[in-house]
Amino acid sequence: MDLKGKCVLLGVTGGIAAYKMANVASALRKLGADVEVIMTKNATQFITPITFETLTGHKCMVDTFDRDFKFEVTHISLAKKADVILVAPATANVIANMAHGIADDMLTTTVLAAKCPKLVSPAMNTGMLENPITQDNIATLERYGFTVIPSESGVLACKDVGSGRLPKEDVLIEYILHTIARPKDLAGVRVTVTAGPTQEALDPVRYLTNHSTGKMGYALARAAAMRGADVTLIHGETALPPVKFTTDVPVTTAQDLYEAVTGRFDTTDVLIMAAAVADYRPVTVASDKIKKKDGDLSIPVERTPDILGTIGPQKTHQFLCGFSMETKDLVENSSAKLAKKNLDMVVANNLKVAGAGFGVDTNVVTFITPDGTRELPLMSKADVADAILDEILKPFLLLFPCKHDADGTGAGVTADGGADVCFPAFLEVAVFLQARFHGLHAAGLRLAGGNEHQPILDVIPVGQTVGDVLAHADGQAAAVFFAHFQLAVDYFQG
Ligand code: CTP
Repeated sequence: MDLKGKCVLLGVTGGIAAYKMANVASALRKLGADVEVIMTKNATQFITPITFETLTGHKCMVDTFDRDFKFEVTHISLAKKADVILVAPATANVIANMAHGIADDMLTTTVLAAKCPKLVSPAMNTGMLENPITQDNIATLERYGFTVIPSESGVLACKDVGSGRLPKEDVLIEYILHTIARPKDLAGVRVTVTAGPTQEALDPVRYLTNHSTGKMGYALARAAAMRGADVTLIHGETALPPVKFTTDVPVTTAQDLYEAVTGRFDTTDVLIMAAAVADYRPVTVASDKIKKKDGDLSIPVERTPDILGTIGPQKTHQFLCGFSMETKDLVENSSAKLAKKNLDMVVANNLKVAGAGFGVDTNVVTFITPDGTRELPLMSKADVADAILDEILKPFLLLFPCKHDADGTGAGVTADGGADVCFPAFLEVAVFLQARFHGLHAAGLRLAGGNEHQPILDVIPVGQTVGDVLAHADGQAAAVFFAHFQLAVDYFQG
């Protein structure tokens, strides 16, 4: 994931954490961003503009009336150029000014003029932060559409212990990436990802597990979140940091995972089972440590629930993607899992292939779907994650560019899960989407009406939903609907 072609404007204000922004500017440049920096006068007491100029290759703006400028009206030009603005550290004073439209320096003037997304990272003494005046100002910024990055707790520069610390640089960068790195082509799609190993206890000291580190599942959760999906990450014990912008659900055993997955299955659109689930667990869990004795020990084990095997046959609108790790007969074994568990896709990899499998940052996978197999080359797990999402959500990728379009030129899926159809060529596609991802009885399919796709317009009149129609459909109407549905399927598969 990178920021090539994006302009990030950093607003640095007068707090001790200002020095950390040099690392942020440098990391953003490494990600390919064009970085501009505006400092308040107070910020220059903590770090010099030359630092930012050296790191970004641009003049660091401080004074609104600086004559040594490169743009016509600098604050307006920067406001237009920026794809995102991050004000960090944001002092109580600058937050108060921004909340009340007071534009009395280069930074606050630019922020007021800018229409791009704005992120604010408050950093100050706990007393100042907790003061209801500051809290009100923060709430006001949020009301005006700013994203406020929660400050962290710890020992502050003033030696107080409490909240008010600027988050680590990588957190700030993750917010910027989440805001602008990827189009939000999965907005509104509820994705559940499972990751990591399960642990099946034998006694209070020992358990059965496997070598999974969770890297593939975490990469999937991050990629889906970056693309705007509503992501739940259910994971076993891993050493990985939590994935931002996801709902984090830690579990231990296969039974826990089964309950976590099935408990939210109705509200899941896409389930990706990347977890390495133990197939067996000890029949009994000793309450005390098992002491060694002379001779060998046999441990009776029993089957754990097969999660995909159970929910596959029960799926309604959900897309189910399983993983399959094999050491031989990759395609044959994985295709059998696709059929047996009623899956839409299996991502298969061979543990014995270099660069694939546990612990590494790369993978070599084969996609197996009811339509056939596709081998991918050696890729980073981050790229594999995006390729998997592209494959799963092809229909969404095609349609989301015209999301919410109501002017007769496009079609898309609306926030309520319905399909907005304005352009006849997309009609079947929208019908497909609604039926495939939101169920036939989901929110309305709204037709603009008046186009040459008369057969289906006759079946689904303006203002009615697919669900309404099918509930009362006679055989012929249903046949027309399914013919169009098939057209859409062919469209994507062809
Ligand atoms: N899986 C599951 N529940 C289990 C075991 C596996 O839902 N108890 C899921 C995995 O998360 C994976 C898929 O099923 O997405 C295939 O898992 P895998 O272990 O490769 O296959 P199994 O069906 O367990 O068969 P085998 O171990 O014999 O290869």
